[in-house]
Amino acid sequence: MPLSNNSKQVNFSEAVLNWFQDHGRKNLPWQLNPNPYRVWVSEIMLQQTQVATVIPYYENFMQSFPEVKKLALADEDKVLHHWTGLGYYARARNLHKTAKLIYDKSQGVFPDTLEELVDLPGIGRSTAGAILALADDKHAVILDGNVKRVLCRYHCVEGWSGQSSTQKQLWELATKHTPVNNCRSYTQAMMDLGATLCTRSKPSCSTCPLQHACQAHLSQRTSEFPHKKPRKKLPVKVTQMLILQSKNGTKVLLEKRPPHGIWGSLWSFPEIQVNTSISNFLQNYGFIAQDEIISWNSMRHTFSHFHLDIKPQVLRLEKEPAMLMEKHDWHWYDLKSPKQLGLAAPVKALLKKLGNQS
Ligand code: ADE
Repeated sequence: MPLSNNSKQVNFSEAVLNWFQDHGRKNLPWQLNPNPYRVWVSEIMLQQTQVATVIPYYENFMQSFPEVKKLALADEDKVLHHWTGLGYYARARNLHKTAKLIYDKSQGVFPDTLEELVDLPGIGRSTAGAILALADDKHAVILDGNVKRVLCRYHCVEGWSGQSSTQKQLWELATKHTPVNNCRSYTQAMMDLGATLCTRSKPSCSTCPLQHACQAHLSQRTSEFPHKKPRKKLPVKVTQMLILQSKNGTKVLLEKRPPHGIWGSLWSFPEIQVNTSISNFLQNYGFIAQDEIISWNSMRHTFSHFHLDIKPQVLRLEKEPAMLMEKHDWHWYDLKSPKQLGLAAPVKALLKKLGNQS
């Protein structure tokens, strides 16, 4: 259906592009001097994370790793350190891995075709489209969460977007609406429209450039779209984190987690199952507790597929055991002059609490 705009007939992409001229975001850090590397990093950071949260992380990251070569040659701990607090750490590990692949294969020249981009770890079809459109103004299609929401409402798309039939339908609609020219502005406009007007709750339909032809708006069904993923109740797992402090309380023991699984390659406190004895753990490693163990209140950390209830157990050790130094995945973290390490979010919070108390 053509959209009516001051009695002039315009189509979908024209309406979106017109709106972008006055209302779109044009000064985000990754829009300044755009290139595929800068856009790629921003797109990965912006997955599941709000623009306002990303901006300081992005600027810091770009200061340390201004080009793909710098990232490729960086130490993994340093990369993960820049990600501490952003969550979904597989993104950072993939970013690092991909930078190394690009550097090894082509000395840092970024691939510029959809096929090559989607072959790289962590780059899906929509991210690849965003890199081509936003960095080089190429004709490419995106289908991120914002675009899905706009299209689901505009066309009253039934079904959940994780289902392959719905996904297929949405890609067809996204492709149909994407203009051949002005793809950079159109792509940014769709992201901005989704993020600022066509929001998940309380969309601002009265100021939306698509209101005259949006099927959900016209039938007063915006709150029904997009259809939600059928929800399963998340299971709850429990663990004890052992906060082992040095005798004088200035250092605390951290352990590097295995590369796969939750918080892969990040640093965390040693963990033991609940209902297992802390003294057995201490004995196994020849640690001697200085005085009694203090249990802090449990804290909940929620992952996409389960809740983790963490019981922090705080104790001071009689002395720093020599064998600690031999174990390469353990580190005495100095609270006063901390090494730059990637930390799991609850660990960061616990270290802060510990710092406040000492
Ligand atoms: N979300 C994903 N990419 C974005 C971008 N380029 N601008 C704003 N929000 C985004």
